[in-house]
Amino acid sequence: MKAQIAITKGDGVGPEVVEEGMKILKTVEKYSDLSFEFKEAPAGGKVWKEMGQSLPDKTFTIIKESDALLFGAIGIPGLPQGVAESAILGIRQGLDLYVNLRPIKLFDALKDRCPLKDQYIGDGIDLTIVRENTEGLYANIGGIMKKEVAINNMIYTRSGCERIIEYAFQFAKKHNHKKITSVDKANILKPSQLWREIFEQIGKSYPKLEKENMYVDAFCQWLIRSPYDYETVVTGNLFGDIISDEGAFLIGSLGMASSGNIHPGQVSMYEPIHGSAPDIAGKNIANPIGTILSVKLMLEESFKQEEIAHDIEKSVEEALNEGRTIDIENKLLETLTTTQMGDLISEKLKSFLKK
Ligand code: IPM
Ligand code: MN
Repeated sequence: MKAQIAITKGDGVGPEVVEEGMKILKTVEKYSDLSFEFKEAPAGGKVWKEMGQSLPDKTFTIIKESDALLFGAIGIPGLPQGVAESAILGIRQGLDLYVNLRPIKLFDALKDRCPLKDQYIGDGIDLTIVRENTEGLYANIGGIMKKEVAINNMIYTRSGCERIIEYAFQFAKKHNHKKITSVDKANILKPSQLWREIFEQIGKSYPKLEKENMYVDAFCQWLIRSPYDYETVVTGNLFGDIISDEGAFLIGSLGMASSGNIHPGQVSMYEPIHGSAPDIAGKNIANPIGTILSVKLMLEESFKQEEIAHDIEKSVEEALNEGRTIDIENKLLETLTTTQMGDLISEKLKSFLKK
């Protein structure tokens, strides 16, 4: 059976990086028994200018009817605040993608690019942020009164907390993690107090896992001081947004960071964490690895192809030893374009898949 994959290229560097993500899927298709059918699902700033909607109904229907969505990046200069973003939020809410999975892994080959390279980092950085993706301050409950008062309500529901925390515990167990860290602000915020109560409750069913609660401000500090201390990190929507950029910086470049917006068993969306980077768009210099690792996540989470996912990761590691895009450049290695980086990873993947 052919898996239907919706493709949102988006704005800026989006189309360039998505091209390389598709290259990887086509390589997988050629050397495995999986097969894919791609369908464009236009969304973003350019689409908003043309049609007055950043996520047209027709696009949402295409996405809903697919098995997964590969999403580039959206946003063009000069748009009103929130217009392009509303396409991403519309997909997350519309498909109830309550898990935002964000791996923060420092490849051995990139240790030279880690901002903590002169500091002890134990056995390296390899953690996953499990971010709640539909509630909190992103629930879009609020408004502006007389241009004087602006309110957003931080909404956490019991069922919303339960499902993300349960997911995180299962994730930690599946990956043989020893510890799970919950990040909140329970000393101040009521929603965090509900969250913490539920974390403690669900934690009782996982006696073998070490459980840790941290306040988000302290966590931001400890993430830099001892990133090797964390494995699964579960947190609410806004805290997850903020700490994932901090994490992405630790692995050498925002261009390396991938994510999956997931509703287990249903159509899910995979996207690099970086934005549309209009300043470098069209130059063929963007790092495609964030997108390629998002494809890896898609194969792992939506299609349960763990072995192929692992092969993609190994291919990235090998490629990084030979060449780099400029954001992770190393003077001793060849500097590659977006296309060349994708080609190199695809070549490596071919040899793994043939074995
Ligand atoms: C992210 C982004 C989004 C967010 C924006 C673009 C809606 O920053 O995926 O981290 O705030 O979640
Ligand atoms: Mn963000």
